[in-house]
Amino acid sequence: MPKCALLCQTSRVLDLHCHILPSVDDGSSSWEMSLEMGRCMVEAGFKAIAASPHYGEGPGGDVPIPVGLGKLEELRERFKQEGIELDLLPNAEHHVSPQLFDRLKQGDVVPIGGQGNWLLVELPWSPLANPEEILFRLQMSGHRLLLAHPERYSYLDVDAVGRLVERGVKLQLELGSFVGVYGNRSKKRARIYGDKGWSHVIATDLHRPEKWVVDGLKAVKKRYGSAGLHKALEENPRAIVSDADGDDLDPFID
Ligand SMILES: [Fe+2]
Repeated sequence: MPKCALLCQTSRVLDLHCHILPSVDDGSSSWEMSLEMGRCMVEAGFKAIAASPHYGEGPGGDVPIPVGLGKLEELRERFKQEGIELDLLPNAEHHVSPQLFDRLKQGDVVPIGGQGNWLLVELPWSPLANPEEILFRLQMSGHRLLLAHPERYSYLDVDAVGRLVERGVKLQLELGSFVGVYGNRSKKRARIYGDKGWSHVIATDLHRPEKWVVDGLKAVKKRYGSAGLHKALEENPRAIVSDADGDDLDPFID
């Protein structure tokens, strides 16, 4: 069986959350590691990554926009030299805090894919008093939100996530959650948010090369079929980088 048999029927698989840029945050720690991650992603069938360094006051780092964009450009060049056929698009994982509102006012954010209005946002890991209100305020600033890994926040219960979905926040589940990388609770929650038809995107959130990527793809395919896999990893990610309206996206299971 070819290595990319799970995904190579679809030609434009795009990862919207990946810490592949070298030595900028808690992700890849070297050029060699970034190249290795690129090779693993190609073997798994990915065609493009919107590289998403941490941005803001979170524990993962705060990568200045010009630094991230500069590394992206350099990594593109290194991929070319090494024959790694993987497109790279701009992105950032915006940590939700008061600072983010200031940065939004200044226009200091990186939309998913580098243009349009979609922002990849992550909530703090420690309990936050009013996550819903804060995300709604962010929406009021005119941005469409893709919330990273809702299944992993200890304080965000299923009902609260349901209310976010009703208000148009789109969910990005972790590929690793479907194979238990973040524990049983996250696995169960990811299945709930997928099964309820609340979720639109699945991404790797890779910080280093990992062996579970293909197993994760297999688990998603088993649960949601080829159509679900295609929607979560290609169709919806591509629509988001094309700045599609949130109402025009379909969840990966209806
Ligand atoms: Fe991340």
